[in-house]
Amino acid sequence: MCGIIGYVGPRKVVPVIIEGLRKLEYRGYDSAGMAILEKGELVVVKKRGKLKALEEAIEGKEYTATTGMGHTRWATHGRVEDRNAHPHVDCKGAIAVIHNGIIENYQVLRDGLIEKGHVFVSETDTEVIAHLMEEQIDAGADLLDAARKTALQLDGAFAFLVLAKAFPGRIVAVRRLSPLVLGVGVGEMILGSDTPALLEYTHRIIPLHDGDIVEINDKGYAFYSLEDGHAFDRTPMTVQWNAAAAEKQGYKHFMLKEIHEQPVVIRDTLYGRIDIESGHVELEEFQGQPVPDHISIVAAGTSYHASRVGKYLLEELARIPTEVSFSSEYRYQRPIVRPGTMGIAVTQSGETIDTLAALRLQRSLGAKVVAITNRPESTVSRESDVTFVTQAGLEIGVAATKSFMAQLIAFYLIALNFGQRNGTLDAETSAHYASQLSSLSQKCEQVLEYAGIMETIARKFYKVHDMIYVGRGVNYPIALEGALKMKEISYIHAEGYAAGELKHGPIALLDEDVPVVGILPKGALYEKIYSNLQESIARDSPLVVLADRKDKRAQAIATDFIPMPPVEELFSPVIYSLPLQLLAYYTADGKGLDVDQPRNLAKSVTVE
Ligand code: AGP
Repeated sequence: MCGIIGYVGPRKVVPVIIEGLRKLEYRGYDSAGMAILEKGELVVVKKRGKLKALEEAIEGKEYTATTGMGHTRWATHGRVEDRNAHPHVDCKGAIAVIHNGIIENYQVLRDGLIEKGHVFVSETDTEVIAHLMEEQIDAGADLLDAARKTALQLDGAFAFLVLAKAFPGRIVAVRRLSPLVLGVGVGEMILGSDTPALLEYTHRIIPLHDGDIVEINDKGYAFYSLEDGHAFDRTPMTVQWNAAAAEKQGYKHFMLKEIHEQPVVIRDTLYGRIDIESGHVELEEFQGQPVPDHISIVAAGTSYHASRVGKYLLEELARIPTEVSFSSEYRYQRPIVRPGTMGIAVTQSGETIDTLAALRLQRSLGAKVVAITNRPESTVSRESDVTFVTQAGLEIGVAATKSFMAQLIAFYLIALNFGQRNGTLDAETSAHYASQLSSLSQKCEQVLEYAGIMETIARKFYKVHDMIYVGRGVNYPIALEGALKMKEISYIHAEGYAAGELKHGPIALLDEDVPVVGILPKGALYEKIYSNLQESIARDSPLVVLADRKDKRAQAIATDFIPMPPVEELFSPVIYSLPLQLLAYYTADGKGLDVDQPRNLAKSVTVE
């Protein structure tokens, strides 16, 4: 939610800001703005709309500033208007602030500041920071001290950056709950909401912790405690991603590129963790950790769907009772954590605020906590006892695809490892499962070869308003995920149901205008699902069926048939998710929608 960037160094700062915002635009894209110190003056430009609007506003201007900051907004407080875009400034236009998060007590602060004569021009919560800074600086505080004293008055979640005319060549940043990363370059310092924005300048990064203040200037950086102001140091870590990962590499959209990367993601996530001959799964991450008696998983969105598959696998392969909760619900319940419980937080970004809060709750209740995340440098990773890093690489498309795949593979590995260690799985069964798992990457390649089928079927959905996805057992979560993908990028109302539930209500929705997508792999539940699909045909619904490519019975009932490579039911979620991602992709693209940046969404949800 919102992307922020700040730079101090020898380069002209405007291109640094624009390129940084381009990499952060996936976090929010309602408005964009920048503040720079240009020839001793504070210059602020901000526009509603995408980054392009800001670029147009500054086109032809020759800025020479080398200190500045930029913001791409995902609106929380205040409509999408120029005046509500960041940066926000104080009454004199001498102090600029950009912010990610929510200031919960902003109304009280705002009222108090107005009483003192401050004039507000926006509807945002953020603007109070600029005026509070003004109060401090007018009272004689230095930029650093003013930022600290201001932050101490704020309730809620924030990462904010301040820049002031009176303090050239300096930016101060404060973090509480919202993510912020410092990039330590050679003679240049850069701050960003997320690592990809920094990679062009440095691979040495320091994620800020809650309660950190950092100042960047021409001498380098310095950390201070928000609580008492004392100075301390943090050591940079090196990240491996290269800047090219943040490019489309010839694909029309990041989402399409990321869908096609999944066979490699599977191989990378399995690499070094599984011995195909013996079937032995070795997970260094869990060394020294006993196999749990119970597991409680918390996650949101797509990560929640992967976790639902995970529950199935952990119970099937390791016979460990597992519950899965939406992190946003879990954190406000009174969960029961029994001795021997392992908490698992599943989150691509590692920054989803609800998942972080749920993990903290699990931990406070005595559970060992594990993070399954794509971001080893994230807050969730830092706060977990064990981090299982999925090897999806950088995911830019707002709709999660390859990170979902990596999470699925993580669950297969963890379930096999636990099942082997607690004696549920014998050597022969383990070897069999290992060989199934290692064949999935190739099967995914086969599915991607006939992406054209999905493109053709998708044409039928351009005018559709409602869709139903059905699956059973381990594929019920895949129906949920398929529907979510369709909803979030094509804006078609789509619902996932357990196929057996259709007749308990949702069947009332079916008619010739409501397509049903049925997941029908060979396996124990085949006949049950087949019957459920027949019920839809009887209500005239057009039926898209994903089934084994040789399955004549499935072909016979399908309006559109998606042929799948043979796979055991237990492993089918991996390959059956791909056509559903492609169906959503081609539908959204065919409707001319912004696939990578769907309306109202943000990649990383760091507000409650
Ligand atoms: C997926 O396509 C969504 N954009 C969204 O549901 C996402 O999975 C959710 O916000 C959780 O994010 P996380 O995995 O980074 O915690």
